[in-house]
Amino acid sequence: MKSFTYYTPTKVFFGREEYKRIGEIVEGYGFKKVMLHYGGGSIKKSGLFDIVASSLKEHGIEVVEFGGAQPNPTLEHATEGMKLCVKEGVDLVLAVGGGSAIDSAKTIAVGAKNDCDTWRFAMKEAEPKAALPVATILTLAATGSEMSASAVITNSELGLKRGYNSDFHRPLFSILCPELTFTLPPYQTACGIVDIMMHTLERYLTRPGDVMITDRMAEGVLTTVVDAGRRAMKNPEDYDARADLMWAGSLSHNDLTGSGRDFMMISHQFEHEMSGMFPYVAHGAGLAVVFPAWAKYVYKKNARRFARLAELLWSITEGSDEEKAYKGILAFENFFRELGMPVRMKELNIPASAFAPMAAKCTANGTKKLNAIIDYTDKEIIEIFELADRD
Ligand code: NZQ
Ligand code: ZN
Repeated sequence: MKSFTYYTPTKVFFGREEYKRIGEIVEGYGFKKVMLHYGGGSIKKSGLFDIVASSLKEHGIEVVEFGGAQPNPTLEHATEGMKLCVKEGVDLVLAVGGGSAIDSAKTIAVGAKNDCDTWRFAMKEAEPKAALPVATILTLAATGSEMSASAVITNSELGLKRGYNSDFHRPLFSILCPELTFTLPPYQTACGIVDIMMHTLERYLTRPGDVMITDRMAEGVLTTVVDAGRRAMKNPEDYDARADLMWAGSLSHNDLTGSGRDFMMISHQFEHEMSGMFPYVAHGAGLAVVFPAWAKYVYKKNARRFARLAELLWSITEGSDEEKAYKGILAFENFFRELGMPVRMKELNIPASAFAPMAAKCTANGTKKLNAIIDYTDKEIIEIFELADRD
């Protein structure tokens, strides 16, 4: 087991209707003025916005409304939010929504407290020194942003999507109510299932050998997500299935399933170039396309680990490790198809002409070294994108 630091400071309120306590919880922390940040309006349609805003006001807390975070949220929009925060003297940024609203809230919170171009944090040219406190009410089980140190933001002018980590913007608290996800379109539920699995796989499939405690937790998360995912797709109002997915989403990306192991995020880096250049691509859908291609490209270098996964998740027991590993990758593809996810670039309308520019962005024109099981230059990345385009 490798040495690690584990830090998960987010207080979690989990369960049916916990969001109704938002006013009491915020008052308990002593905050006076909250920015209520959300996405395109699903929370208005569901009535959640009114319940949250009323609960805050009933507890004497002023509400500054700021909606409009789009899926794959933009720096430009977050910049408007940070200006509003400073002008209004907001003391807590509360995101109500999925990963996009939460990441946008994190960027707003960091921007409001640092005298520096926020994009520099995303480009790793500077590190945040402070942030306004962030809290979340989660409406989509997927990204794990409700407990993670990460924020992912798109600079539309540059067509670049970048993630950065900071403990300053880790949520202070997150309210997780599985029933809030009943209204998700099936496509978004499926994107979430893929994303949750990927956050664990990006840790599980790394090179160093077995880490029994971590591996077994990761395997528990993965088997649960396949099972609960199928149940939630079949019956969107299955509370227990939604609850399993929601908690799995948080545990998958709060570093628990990676403790003592390496952390790659290589499929994520490839996907971020895809949804960075083609912002209509949902993160989970991009991962469903690129992960099987990446796995086909590298599995022989880590065959036992891929085979172990194939045995566990898909009951593949016949053949050598390499054979089991390959069949396991095809089983992933089939599972993603079963969920209604795309599995080829053309299904995302990403043309082959974009592969080289996406690869160049990923390696910063050949200046950035990438390693996850193997080393990657533009050549390897383009070949993986081509594999993701081949039937
Ligand atoms: O915007 P609204 O109107 O709320 O609608 C959203 C959006 O259209 C809708 N939705 C959310 N909850 C709903 C709902 N519709 C009905 N009922 C509900 N309960 O779903 C759509 C997608 O929402 P979004 O927040 O974009 O999805 P997701 O949670 O998958 O977040 C994706 C973003 O997070 C980043 C991704 O790259 C992408 O930008 N990630 C963030 C991470 C992190 N901070 O740790 C890690 C991830 O790997 C990921 O990269
Ligand atoms: Zn992800």
